[in-house]
Amino acid sequence: MEYVSVSSLESGMVLSGDLIAPNGRFILPKGARLTQKNIMSIKIWGVSRVPVAKPPDREGAPDSDILFSSSVMEEAREIILERFSGNPPQWPVMEEIFSVAVMDTASRLSEGDVPLRPEIFNSHFSDIPEGSAEKTDMEALLGAENGLATLPDVYARISDALRSPKSSATHIADLVSKDTALSAIILKLANSAMYGVPGKVDSILRATTLIGGRALSTLALGVSATRLFRGISVKWVNMESFWKHSISVAVIAQILVSRKNPRAIEQLFAAGMLHDIGRLALFRHAPRTMSRLIADASAEKLPLDFMEREVLGFDHGELGGRLLERWNFPLSLSSLIMSHHKERERPKNCASAVLAAADVLASVTDEGGSGSWYAAPLSEETWKAADLPSSVLEMTIRQARRQISEIYNLFQGSD
Ligand SMILES: [Fe+2]
Ligand SMILES: [Fe+2]
Repeated sequence: MEYVSVSSLESGMVLSGDLIAPNGRFILPKGARLTQKNIMSIKIWGVSRVPVAKPPDREGAPDSDILFSSSVMEEAREIILERFSGNPPQWPVMEEIFSVAVMDTASRLSEGDVPLRPEIFNSHFSDIPEGSAEKTDMEALLGAENGLATLPDVYARISDALRSPKSSATHIADLVSKDTALSAIILKLANSAMYGVPGKVDSILRATTLIGGRALSTLALGVSATRLFRGISVKWVNMESFWKHSISVAVIAQILVSRKNPRAIEQLFAAGMLHDIGRLALFRHAPRTMSRLIADASAEKLPLDFMEREVLGFDHGELGGRLLERWNFPLSLSSLIMSHHKERERPKNCASAVLAAADVLASVTDEGGSGSWYAAPLSEETWKAADLPSSVLEMTIRQARRQISEIYNLFQGSD
């Protein structure tokens, strides 16, 4: 059998034997005619030599997939393998996430982006003053946070309206319209790619008819709660990166759920925005402990939430969920946030599975970060609960990249 090195592959070549990756994954059958996309998959899976039967058929139709150079693909693969703690993925959904992440990283590298490295999370913790007492137990942390004080009045009224079965869409539109900053941002969202509505949505009332009263209030709640990020100032956290991660999870979760249950878009968007809020409370009240946990997680190549559970006895998801409960957020939101790490393995429903999947995807595709560099595994069980084919992941990330920067800029300009 004749073997060709992966860097010499060309589209049109025909395989003379089955192609199997070093981790045992079946890639392509004997007789397959290679396309550029196949060649990239072969590079993703780290195959070095490929059995080939005949030279490319130059008469064949050219395929127009984007191709990254072998060195870019190799660098991207190394970065993602490191994010996977050096272990190649072991089950189908993680294989797909791995592949999507390598392609996304290759595209960033070829655009000149510098990928995040684990050290970035440590650099901000160097000047924490010694001595001040740290709060590391759940009750003390809950007592120390008074997020509601930083939320605008309209938040409480929307939250009441959301709980009352009697409140009408017009009433909700009325409430939102009274807060000019909130209305402006809701209108921008209604006109963004998130909804993709033709024509202009120029009033809150129109936005209400477009997305529904309850959906609008959930969205308004999520948006007004983003002021919590401004209320919590933590100087050793890269807030820009944290904020970007939150927006990325919101956008990815929203795209994934729109394929299954479009009525849950706003809920997933709000949940994504707020899912790691518990970590901000930890960074604020226990910076030295968190700095140590980040260093330990990095040394052991573990996701940070594993260390939190081991050392603190709870993770930031549980803390965030409990905080939101205290602040009277709807149970549907607080319980999603409470379990976003635990239910990576045992999800209750499609919404929690989608949130967990979006968090893993956002983390490995480098859209900011909330302190954890190593990828947490998404179980096959969880992906089953999301009830989506894994082929949607690639498309979702492509779509998300455009929307993330749109929504990030939209919030940036909202002060
Ligand atoms: Fe999290
Ligand atoms: Fe997260």
